[in-house]
Amino acid sequence: MGARSFIAAAALGLLAACGAASQGTLRPPGEALYVDRCGRCHEAYPAHAYADGQWAGVMRRMAPEAGLDEPEAGAILAWLVENN
Ligand code: HEC
Repeated sequence: MGARSFIAAAALGLLAACGAASQGTLRPPGEALYVDRCGRCHEAYPAHAYADGQWAGVMRRMAPEAGLDEPEAGAILAWLVENN
């Protein structure tokens, strides 16, 4: 295992541990990312605050603000439209 994949695995383990500690179940990665990365400058708006198409537009504007790469933005958008 290279250093990068070790760090990635450690980070994932940490996310999983936080989710499990806070609600007793494993948090979906999209939700954990959303709360962490989108809750920095303002509150993490509830998923039901916007419709699917609106979230897509918001993510186009906000993903660069949050420094997300495409897989991260995709995981967040998928979680938002599943839970709105
Ligand atoms: C670097 C700071 C920053 C980060 C990180 C950030 N936002 Fe924002 N966000 C803003 C600012 C500033 C506004 C208000 C001005 C604006 O609308 O551009 C805003 C407004 C919003 C709004 C209000 C609706 C709207 O259309 O203006 C939503 C929803 C939103 N952000 C979602 C997100 C999501 C989802 C993420 C994660 C991908 C995110 N934000 C990450 C700074 C940030």
